[in-house]
Order: sequence, then structure tokens, then C-alpha cells
Amino acid sequence: MLKVNSFKIRDVKAREILDCRGEPTLQVEVITENGVIGTADVPSGRSRSSYEAFELRDGGGRYRGKGVLKAVKNVNEIIAPALRGRDVRKQREIDMLLIELDGTENKSRLGGNAIVGVSLAVAKTAANALGIPLYRYIGGVNAHVLPVPILDLIEGGKLAASGLDFQEHQAIPIGAKSFSEAIRIGLEVYYELGAILENRYGKFSLNVGVEGGYAPHGMRDPREALEAILKAIEELGYQDKFVLGLDCAATHLYDKKSGKYNLMGREFTREELIDFYEDLVSTYPVKSIEDPLEENDFEGFAQLTRELNIQIIGDDLFATNIKRLRMGIEMRAANAILLKVNQAGTLTETLDVADLAFRSGYAVIVSERSGQTADTWLADLAVALNAGQIKTGVTRGERTAQYNRLLIIEEELGPTAKYAGRNYY
Ligand code: PGA
Ligand code: ZN
Repeated sequence: MLKVNSFKIRDVKAREILDCRGEPTLQVEVITENGVIGTADVPSGRSRSSYEAFELRDGGGRYRGKGVLKAVKNVNEIIAPALRGRDVRKQREIDMLLIELDGTENKSRLGGNAIVGVSLAVAKTAANALGIPLYRYIGGVNAHVLPVPILDLIEGGKLAASGLDFQEHQAIPIGAKSFSEAIRIGLEVYYELGAILENRYGKFSLNVGVEGGYAPHGMRDPREALEAILKAIEELGYQDKFVLGLDCAATHLYDKKSGKYNLMGREFTREELIDFYEDLVSTYPVKSIEDPLEENDFEGFAQLTRELNIQIIGDDLFATNIKRLRMGIEMRAANAILLKVNQAGTLTETLDVADLAFRSGYAVIVSERSGQTADTWLADLAVALNAGQIKTGVTRGERTAQYNRLLIIEEELGPTAKYAGRNYY
């Protein structure tokens, strides 16, 4: 029998650790009265929306201003005393309390990074105290769907030192039979693509961006990237197993003053960019586009959703914010949402956003941030939600850690594991 007090929080502690970029972030630890511990690492985005929960950084000279000691202090001195004695299983109650303690619209007092770390660590501790995996704790008895991995094979924009303006050029293995097959064929395409790029652009093209995708020197046109990926897929005879995708992160190509987008060294009006997408989608098997336009252009998003008949994902557009998602649903601005827990700021708010998305017929893509650690709560969250899609780069330790975790979950679920495949959305 479990002791009565085994779910009560004894303490909450935060510390400053490093993310994959070598920049400081928080690790939060929650411990129950009888010693069960759960820890969670906080991710950090670089290509951000203006509507995300606030990330509290120290400023000053230390770590070039990027330290998170103020956020650590907020956890240890303000949040911890408020949570002591509470039941770790009361996730919603605890998250509401965190929101109340902060008291601002965008979590700028205590810091979204402080709050999200506590929120996730509470969930992990509850799962540990119950002796069940995190995906089972959050998802319950029905968590069984392994997500389609959206593989960022060629990088540009803010995430890589390449000449490409779009952030991600993706291969999406919807035709695999299982998650492990999806990963295998995805990585085979990655190796083949490496050989193709090296041949055509030289060995410097094998340098990778933040998410482990190639950052080919001299490549400027997204069509070249799509063509190289397609060639790799075709060389392996996998045409029927993959579709292509893009994260344009167009907010970061947009010049507010001129109202135009900078792409391939020239200016595009919104209409020209929309035409460009129509052309891309009719030329290549591109079936998913994230943030094709800047984060306030709900109408342009709606036009593309109507006209392209593919998955249109709002990332910067929605910022995992329920008000923005509601607005998007009303305007039919997209048909999919990128779900980032640290954009929302708590697990509960993220689950509410996912719930509204599902009920509105939106696809949900559980997503990393470009600043990650090897913590794998992300993989568990994707399965917990039966989300059907995950976006977490391609190689580098903090990305493969997610895939490795999903491989373990697939094995654990055995014959009850279902790969989302062509039903991804
Ligand atoms: P970020 O980028 O994590 O740097 O914000 C990822 C994305 O835009 O999808
Ligand atoms: Zn994005």
C-alpha cells in the first residue's frame, strides 16, 4: 500500500543547466514527502512568436545576459513555498495556482521558463509516484499512437548558417508501417541526402544546423532543397513512403516597414509569396507547410488553407495560445497547430489548447524548441495525446533522445502500438 502522504510535495528546487546551444536554462526538481523525485528541463526557442509566454533572462554580463538565476530564484523562493504540501496529482489545480501566483497575462513576473519547468516536473513526479510512464499518466489508458516524425533534413533561417531563408525543409515518412520503420527510412534518406549534397555542393554542405539537418553552403532556393531531398527519396525507391514539408517561419522573413517578405535575396509581396507556394505545391509532393506567412496574417493563412488543400500549421501564428487558436478556428486560418509547452507556459494550458484543436478538427504536432536538452518529456507527450505527429529535428543528441524514447515506448506498447502513418491528420 502507498503511504497517505506519498503524493505530497516536500520541496521544489530549480537549478541552472545548459541547453544544446550551451545556453543556460532551468532544470526543476520536485520531491514528495517520501522521496519520489521528478525533474524536467526547460526548452528555449530562437525563432519565436511575439505571443509566447515570457522567457525570463538575467541580463548583464554573465552568460552574455542569458543566465536564468532570477527564474531559478523565483522557483526556489516564491513557487516552492506555495507548492509545499500539495498533491502532485492535482496538475490542473497546481497550474492554476502558478498562473495566479504570477498574475500577468504572459507570465512575465515569475517567468514562463520558471513556471513551465515546475509544471512539467510536477507531472513527472506524479507519474513516478504512481509508478507509471509519463505518457500513460498524462494520456491514460488510450495512449497508444506513435507519431509521424517530421524530419528537418535541410535547415535555414534562424536555425542554421546556410543561405536558405526557410527554416526547415522536411521529409515526412507517412508510408512506414511502424514508428521504428519511419525512423529507419528517415535516417536512410538523411545519409543518402548527405552523399548527394556532398557531391553537388562540396563537403562543407555536411555541416549541420541546430536540429541536425544539413546546412548546405551556396544553396539559396528552397526548391533546390526540396529537389535534393526528393532525389534522395527516389534513389532509395521510397517515393510512396514520404511526403515533403516546410517550416517557412515567415514572421522572420517579414519586413514590417515595407510589408514585404525577403526571400532568395529579393522582396516578395504577400500575393507573390502565396503564388510561390501554389507553384511549390503543384511541383513537389509538399503536403505540409508551417507558418507560410507572418504571425498576424490570419487572412492570408485562411486563403492558403482554402486554396492549397494540404496541412497548414500555425506555429508563430498561434503560439500555443488558446485565444489565438480560437481566433484561427473562427477564421479557418489553418488546419493544424504546432504544440509547444513553453509557448503556453503550463502543461494544463497546453492540454487545453490540444483539446480545442482536436475538437475543431485540427491536426496537432507536438514540437521541440530549437534549444533543447536530452530530457524526453516531449516524446511522452506526443504519445499521451495520440497526437499523430512530432517535430523534433533529425540528428544530434537532444533530438535522437526523443526518437530513442519513442522507440522504447513502441517496444513497451508492443502489438498495441499504432503508428499514425497516413492518418496523421
Ligand atoms: P524555435 O523554432 O524553437 O527556435 O522557436 C522552431 C520552429 O519554428 O518550429
Ligand atoms: Zn516553426
